Amino acid sequence: MSKEIENHSNLNPSNNEPFSSVMARHVSRRDIMRGGLSLAALGMLGGFGGLNMARAQESGAQKTPLALAFESLRGSRTDAVVVPEGYTAQVLIPWGTPLDEKGPTWHHEQEMTAETQARSVGMHHDGMHAFPLGKDNASRDFLLALNNEYIDQKALWAPRGGPTNADAGQRPADEVRTEINAHGVTIVRVRKQEDGHWVHVLGDAHNRRFTSATPMDLAGPVAGSDYVRTRYSADGTRTRGTNNNCANGFTPWGTYLTCEENWPEVFVNRGELNIDDARLGLPTERGRYGWETAAGTDGEREDEFARFDVTPQGEEPRNDYRNETRTFGYVVEIDPYAGQSRAVKRTALGRFRHEGCWPGKLTAGEPVVFYSGHDSRNEYIYKFVSDAKWDPTDANRPGEGYDRLALGAKYMDQGTLYVARFNADGSGEWLPLEPDARVADGRTLAQALSLAEDDRAGVIVHTCDAADLLGATPMDRPEWGTVDPVSGEVYMTLTNNADRTAENTQPTYTHGGDIDAAGAGYATAPTNAANPRADNESGQILRWRERGDDVTRFDWEVFVFGAAADDTTNLSGLTEHNQFASPDGLWYDARGDGQGILWIETDNGYDGVAEQTNDQVLAVVPNALSHDSGQASVVDAGNQQHLKRFAVGPNGCEVTGIFATPDKTALFINIQHPGNWPANPDAATQDATRAAADNVRPRAATVVIQKDDGGQVGV
Ligand code: FEO
Ligand code: CA
Ligand code: CA
Repeated sequence: MSKEIENHSNLNPSNNEPFSSVMARHVSRRDIMRGGLSLAALGMLGGFGGLNMARAQESGAQKTPLALAFESLRGSRTDAVVVPEGYTAQVLIPWGTPLDEKGPTWHHEQEMTAETQARSVGMHHDGMHAFPLGKDNASRDFLLALNNEYIDQKALWAPRGGPTNADAGQRPADEVRTEINAHGVTIVRVRKQEDGHWVHVLGDAHNRRFTSATPMDLAGPVAGSDYVRTRYSADGTRTRGTNNNCANGFTPWGTYLTCEENWPEVFVNRGELNIDDARLGLPTERGRYGWETAAGTDGEREDEFARFDVTPQGEEPRNDYRNETRTFGYVVEIDPYAGQSRAVKRTALGRFRHEGCWPGKLTAGEPVVFYSGHDSRNEYIYKFVSDAKWDPTDANRPGEGYDRLALGAKYMDQGTLYVARFNADGSGEWLPLEPDARVADGRTLAQALSLAEDDRAGVIVHTCDAADLLGATPMDRPEWGTVDPVSGEVYMTLTNNADRTAENTQPTYTHGGDIDAAGAGYATAPTNAANPRADNESGQILRWRERGDDVTRFDWEVFVFGAAADDTTNLSGLTEHNQFASPDGLWYDARGDGQGILWIETDNGYDGVAEQTNDQVLAVVPNALSHDSGQASVVDAGNQQHLKRFAVGPNGCEVTGIFATPDKTALFINIQHPGNWPANPDAATQDATRAAADNVRPRAATVVIQKDDGGQVGV
């Protein structure tokens, strides 16, 4: 994410018990267990034992765990990527790399135009995934789909000495169009050459951009409803653009999922905010980049700038853009194989600041499950369960052309959205966001939200309010998730939460009540022995497992706590070789035999760790960890040597986006918002581990990490 575009308000005004206090009771319960409760008493404590028992039974049947065969790196604070000895790291497709032959070749003094930017790799690489082109060569030649989350205006407009009227006054139309085109998604074919070096395939027919202006379809419960009728789409079935796409996901049928995170800030409403827009934190004076100020200038076409001002103007919604924001906040599906296909916003998966969207364990004849998180302070974790049952013949068939988006409609437009409640005993509940679900006072969710009894679209538009009313657990900013495809266990990062205070000062929130309180009063996050800091700056990673016999129940535990090695709250016993804070990117890299590597990426703003190292990639083999349930987390002082630092990014960056090729010989990561990197300001590919001699125009880029001997990465 981008500390630059994070919304630092606490936008959850509900009085649900925050995760910090659930965690406090959870950890202290473990302390009690350490004190020698009998097994019978431990059993009475409920679900946590269930998760441990299931793991213990599985590990009994396991072979020797994988071993990470590299030395954990010491921290680094340089303008270069650092990887272990015996590895290389190369830069691939930095921002501005042309996708076809029609535009100019990148040069560090080049001034981007709307047209060149629309045909070049976008800015600030984030989540990404690979899509093979056929049965062969899947590890050497594939389509890379990646998010371009946001922009660095200083770097974008360096030849002009910076952006024009960035903070006040009217923005020039050409700058706004260019900035809009630097956001979104890039699809680009990449290929490994005989010498092991990776290049992109200039002019490949699959190469394309989706930007914050590209026409897209709405699907699912909200599509065609009154909530999304605009001057652009009177029938509420279309919108333009996808914004601030942070993490990603993928589907078993071969499509890419891109998720809309910090999108509210590109809009502005100078009138009365909708309740849902207030809940999500819409600006009331000026959008993040002032795009709306270019309205009416320089041949504006089809309200391309006016649509960012959602203040009601006309008599009814089809006269203005009051509903434009309700066409954002979704998981968006893209078919990377079909060059002319449109992106589709799958509204059934909820409307909020989506970090990403990850498929659960896939089983023939069972529903398809997706997990997602709302990355804001004290927001929630969600699960979508499809109505349709998984048919293995729908699995991706690379190289074949067929309608993958029809499969998206089959599995993602009808289903149930749930929100998570984490109980202190290690059990958890999935609460259905259905109009007829009951809230605490006995009303239906629809009644409590003042909606018609069957208004599923309304529940989705008001996802966050619905989750409040159901009693979901506010979390410490959910970021990425990932799933072990064999066990089905889910990992999710909670990156940090600076809005935890010692006292409960929040008045009771009622839907439709005092919206001025949003972002101001919620402070029920008491400190305690397990979480002694008034703000959780270092974050933690959770692990949970569904109870197979009940779609509404799960069991959870803390996998690892972030911390600086010398913190008094270093609950996982981290050392200088693996201290980290603000976990963000996450990927379970299955390596066969039910084993795998969990890769962890960071987006740290915590000085205790930042003074020691730049953002990083860590690796751990979960199955190698002996698991003493008496400890506060799975990674603890007795086993933390298995958590190793694998790579460190250049100064100023966050490390995000991650996957390995199917043969595991190349690990792809993204370096976002570097300060002074890559070293050569003009080269399309180069050594990522070299530091620049002088100041360069920084460019976010993908980095490919490979072993000198061509072997599998990490082992
Ligand atoms: Fe864009 Fe939640 O990080
Ligand atoms: Ca982040
Ligand atoms: Ca992120």
